Amino acid sequence: MEKDIYVLGLETSCDETAAAIIKNGREIIANVVSSQIESHKRFGGVVPEIASRHHVEQITVVLEETLKQAGMTFNDLHAIAVTKGPGLVGSLLIGVNAAKALAFAHQLPLIGVHHIAGHIYANRLVEELTFPLLSLVVSGGHTELILMKEHGDFQVIGETRDDAAGEAYDKVARTLGLPYPGGPHIDRMAVEGEATIDLPRAWLEEGSYDFSFSGLKSAVINTLHNAEQRGEYIKPEDLAASFQGSVIEVLTAKTVKAAKEFEVKQVLLAGGVAANKGLRKALEKQFAELKNVDLLIPPLSLCTDNAAMIAAAGTVLYEQGKFENLAMNGYPGLDIEQN
Ligand code: KG4
Ligand code: ZN
Repeated sequence: MEKDIYVLGLETSCDETAAAIIKNGREIIANVVSSQIESHKRFGGVVPEIASRHHVEQITVVLEETLKQAGMTFNDLHAIAVTKGPGLVGSLLIGVNAAKALAFAHQLPLIGVHHIAGHIYANRLVEELTFPLLSLVVSGGHTELILMKEHGDFQVIGETRDDAAGEAYDKVARTLGLPYPGGPHIDRMAVEGEATIDLPRAWLEEGSYDFSFSGLKSAVINTLHNAEQRGEYIKPEDLAASFQGSVIEVLTAKTVKAAKEFEVKQVLLAGGVAANKGLRKALEKQFAELKNVDLLIPPLSLCTDNAAMIAAAGTVLYEQGKFENLAMNGYPGLDIEQN
């Protein structure tokens, strides 16, 4: 019988300090997330210096809690995986240095994980992956369609040319006077409104799997300002529903088209915006009709930043023998294809 592999994951790329222990890349043994959202809320977005300070304060607390939840010590672990990029450099460095120190002190292999690979591998905590697969990654910093032919192989077939989907949600929410992060608020309001306002859909050139959300964001802002100047009232719920309708229509249509073209066996939803109820529902409806493609959507807790996904992706690198040395750094602009 093969021996079980336990990997500790650390994630500090943005505004969550997180640690987790995963068994065999698939099973959560412990998963702890400390969110800083409350500290950043009054600034309307993540303040990098504040984020770094919180990570410094939280990392050991989160780590101890994780080991306690798992009932394990470092002697039970096989490797330490950490997000090495992309993200805020000051934030990344806290996790990277913690991981390096722990790996050195406990003589464990060190693994550097791409944050988006982590989001994709959150799905493996739900179901085993079958290739080829297509992943729609929608987060605060990324909007990408990624084709995978095997473990650890990432091909970006489409990406945003301007704003990420989550970024557009947050900016539109801010215009509507909603707190940060605005995505979940728009999602909730959209259910209460009707998509009665005509907003653009950026399909781009024929055959392109790229995205663009800045035009849509500007259209929402202009609609609000014009109405204000004319003294007209626009129901915010209707605007939320119209905006969400436009985002979802483009994301869903391009995902379905790519799934057919590349004849994938699975479609995975990943990233913070994967928590969006409207998007989940639209994809479920579309893929219910495509009998030979399985749609995987992680539970809400695994959609937003966490370390379980980093340990899951790290386990694959462990099995492939892809280790880092103590010269590893934090890489704010890390490319998933080159990595
Ligand atoms: O993946 P994530 O936790 O952090 C990044 O790596 O960026 O994603 C955060 C993003 C934020 O922009 C947030 O507004 C968005 O995910 N988000 C949502 C929802 N929940 C979180 N956007 C739309 N609908 C939601 N329910
Ligand atoms: Zn993320």
